Amino acid sequence: MNGAKEKVNLLAEKNIILGVTGGIAAYKAADLASYLTQLGAKVHVILTKSAQEFISPLTFSALTGLPAAGDLFSADYGPLKHIELATAADAFLIAPATANVIGKLAAGLADDLLTTTALAVTCPRLLAPAMNANMYAQQVVQENIALLCRRGWELIAPEAGRMACGAVGLGRLADKDKIVAFLRRSLGRKDLAGLKILVTAGGTREPLDPVRYLGNRSSGRMGYALAQVAWERSGEVILISGPTALVPPYGVRFIPVTTAQEMYEAVMDIFPEADIVVKAAAVADFRPANQAKEKIKKEEHEMLVLNLEPTPDILAALGRKKTRQILAGFAAETQDLLANAKEKLKAKNLDLIVANDVSRRGVGFESDTNIVTLLFADGRQENLPEMDKYDVAHAVWDAICSLPRFASLKK
Ligand code: CTP
Repeated sequence: MNGAKEKVNLLAEKNIILGVTGGIAAYKAADLASYLTQLGAKVHVILTKSAQEFISPLTFSALTGLPAAGDLFSADYGPLKHIELATAADAFLIAPATANVIGKLAAGLADDLLTTTALAVTCPRLLAPAMNANMYAQQVVQENIALLCRRGWELIAPEAGRMACGAVGLGRLADKDKIVAFLRRSLGRKDLAGLKILVTAGGTREPLDPVRYLGNRSSGRMGYALAQVAWERSGEVILISGPTALVPPYGVRFIPVTTAQEMYEAVMDIFPEADIVVKAAAVADFRPANQAKEKIKKEEHEMLVLNLEPTPDILAALGRKKTRQILAGFAAETQDLLANAKEKLKAKNLDLIVANDVSRRGVGFESDTNIVTLLFADGRQENLPEMDKYDVAHAVWDAICSLPRFASLKK
């Protein structure tokens, strides 16, 4: 199958109700509403009465291009506004959520537009609390949150840091990228739900002496995108990564490693419990046979010859061990792309290999985009056009979900 794939934008044209409640973090909701609008969502803002002490509906309507509502009984909106909004909503998010509104929701109270709408929606409901750390730690607040989670609300936990009151602790509103990640997960497909997924990413570093190493040009972006998308598609994700400049995606369990040997050990540790493994890491094939204890001095060498020994081939080892698992690898090639990739697919006993021509300028290593061909163990082949690595990641997960063995994993 050939042809262009559409860019995956889970937020495009989605109706998001953003509830804003009365805490100082309400000002951050303006930035969030603007960001969601820029990402293509239709953001319908509902402010509580106390939120309007901090920020006005006008700010939100100017940012979203849609009316921002406050009053259940306002003549502007009509008496059935909450039902109208609730029926159209794809996601219902309260950010920031105060202790007061959390308490009201837990008790089932509905005395304003936000809390009545909360009872009327049938879409995913998300809660991003923000308050003073002592308030957040209060047993009653924690119990209310736990109760809401049991009833199906998704908690976007606050972060630790300095708060408006000057204290430092757990209670700052989650940052907007984290909130968007949770929204994407609630709006996306759930095809990886219940599956444990192991992704490797980045390049490994093989030390030569205490200050130098042998490395490669992998940025980690492809592997991080695969981990992010797997989490957004509801998988339980473990990301084992060599050093990169990237922040690990939200929701994944992150295991940093440096050398091929460390990656081998970490992967082998997790493998028995994994359902799917995608190895996007650029693992060194060789490492210095001897690591110098002290910095190598140039005066001591006219020519420096390095003796290299092979590292373990992690994917090949997994291929030998695999039982129920689905195994996918990458083939980074500069020549004979498909022939070399097919050879690796077979030799490493994989279900799928992503063939990647790393000699093409502007794609692959250190780039935001990639051009890949997916090769399946049953002989199928799918050529993908140049795509953002996030979209390539979706295509790889689509391919994995299409494997006949995938259905048996879900049983
Ligand atoms: N791989 C691995 N362990 C290694 C080397 C590679 O797990 N020591 C994995 C990579 O993560 C990738 C796949 O094997 O998924 C293919 O990696 P690649 O570098 O393209 O090929 P190699 O098998 O190393 O062969 P060569 O370098 O000779 O092309």
